[in-house]
Amino acid sequence: MSNSQPIGIFDSGVGGTSIWKEIHELLPAEKTIYLADSKNAPYGEKPIEEIKNLSRKNTEKLLEMGAKIIVVACNTATTNAIKELRNEYMVPFIGIEPAIKPAALNSKSKTIGILATRGTLTSTLFSQTSDFYARNINVVEVEGRGLVELIEAGEIDSGHMRSHLLGLLEPFFMNKIDYLVLGCSHYPYLIPLLKELLPKEVVIIDSGEAVARQTKAILSANNLLAQAKQAHPIPEFFTNTNPKVLENLTGAISMGYKVSYLDF
Ligand code: DGL
Repeated sequence: MSNSQPIGIFDSGVGGTSIWKEIHELLPAEKTIYLADSKNAPYGEKPIEEIKNLSRKNTEKLLEMGAKIIVVACNTATTNAIKELRNEYMVPFIGIEPAIKPAALNSKSKTIGILATRGTLTSTLFSQTSDFYARNINVVEVEGRGLVELIEAGEIDSGHMRSHLLGLLEPFFMNKIDYLVLGCSHYPYLIPLLKELLPKEVVIIDSGEAVARQTKAILSANNLLAQAKQAHPIPEFFTNTNPKVLENLTGAISMGYKVSYLDF
């Protein structure tokens, strides 16, 4: 393994680009390759075995492309499959999990909200984390039904998204949460709309920055950080559906990033 090899990142679709942005900002000398498995989105409604198999497929494609580390930029894939991935492949894996801990520690009302997919909310890893960090806290869980599909369709602030999201937020209004944890890498794209719709004292937390910091720490511990003096490499994005939404969310056209269709 050499430090000039790329960081491989995958998600069920375009949402993990919210994590990619944090990694790219923190580690600009690193070459990044992003796989959007949009053809199979949403993962959150699928049986666990299927989520595991899709995660294996994405991992193998990234390894074929020379990834030195793999970032599972999907809460659903992390909470349901990262254990198997770590057991089956030699490369280091970074996962993303809902940031329950900081929300539980800082909540004054002792009532926090979590918005995530069904796959994440029903996973063993999530319930273990929640039991551990939020034992004395009221955790209001809401399944973000339909949100991934709308974001995949590029509907981030459409009228449809707005009314759908408002309906989903009802349990958070009723329970007077003071922290909202975003447990899906697609949802950071909804932060501007969430800020508009939620009471202004509600603090929104996502895990993007923490994942980027962890990626840096693990690369460093394995002596795999790219040379800081290396010319800034161009990020590459691959999708197995129409590249349009991926191009828009990453600003690929104005930034000169490569976005390609790939059958994987
Ligand atoms: N971005 C994925 C996550 O973080 C979305 C899951 C899905 O495709 O349902 O969970």
